[in-house]
Amino acid sequence: MKDCKIENTDCRAAVGVFDSGVGGLTVAREIMRNLPNERIVYFGDTARLPYGSKSKETIIRFSRQIIRFLRTQNVKAIVIACNTASALALEEVEKELDIPIIGVVKPGARVASGVTENGRIGVIGTESTINSHMYRQMIRQIDPTITVYGKACPLFVPLVEEGWLKDPVTEEVAKRYLDELLRKDIDTLILGCTHYPLLRSLVGRIAGDAVTLVNPAYETAKELERLLLQRGIANPGEKEPGQEPYRFFVSDAADKFKNFANSILPYDVETIRKINIEEY
Ligand code: DGL
Repeated sequence: MKDCKIENTDCRAAVGVFDSGVGGLTVAREIMRNLPNERIVYFGDTARLPYGSKSKETIIRFSRQIIRFLRTQNVKAIVIACNTASALALEEVEKELDIPIIGVVKPGARVASGVTENGRIGVIGTESTINSHMYRQMIRQIDPTITVYGKACPLFVPLVEEGWLKDPVTEEVAKRYLDELLRKDIDTLILGCTHYPLLRSLVGRIAGDAVTLVNPAYETAKELERLLLQRGIANPGEKEPGQEPYRFFVSDAADKFKNFANSILPYDVETIRKINIEEY
């Protein structure tokens, strides 16, 4: 096995991925599909979700604790796979870290800015994400001429967790939420919450062909790939014997998490470990 250490970072170390719960599995899924050599340690804060209605201070405190836990797992980089935590905590926690950390907002904002032709972008997300105006801020940094319209869609998360992905009730709710944005003549719509990629076909049908949907989960996997290559810490594909490629930790409700994970991941999840995140 060739030396795989760059400045004390082992390329074979896992990438830490975290979210308030199951939603970030949509990001983990894209990392599994696009970076098959990378190992993942995933943490879902199922005891303290939802994050989408909590304050910035709380989300920063939770994120710090989770990062401290992930560091005990010797991760080489961290992905905040939660739009709310990316919008509210990334700026603060990245200053405190000596390993790379990325969120989902910037990659989503970058792609949407490149996709829009009429300069009118819609963003849907949790209340905290939309109220933070972080997508707008990131997009305006890239191109100040773009207009960004945000809409909080708080009912989407419980509907997805209930598995009502194609249900008439979800369709009715989606029509109500999207109506306001579609009247603004947007040509691009960011699915700015971890759960929304699972509503992609329903949202796409309502938004119509003239609106391009942007999935930050996919763009984040691409951004992670670029980052790991740039730093020289991408895993060349060497697996240590007996190593699990993907490990999952939660703060509560491990069985529910496992069922959801097995319904969306291209990987058979067997073990979910429950930890007390308040200890970190
Ligand atoms: N993961 C959150 C996000 O992407 C949605 C769920 C929650 O509110 O905790 O914003």
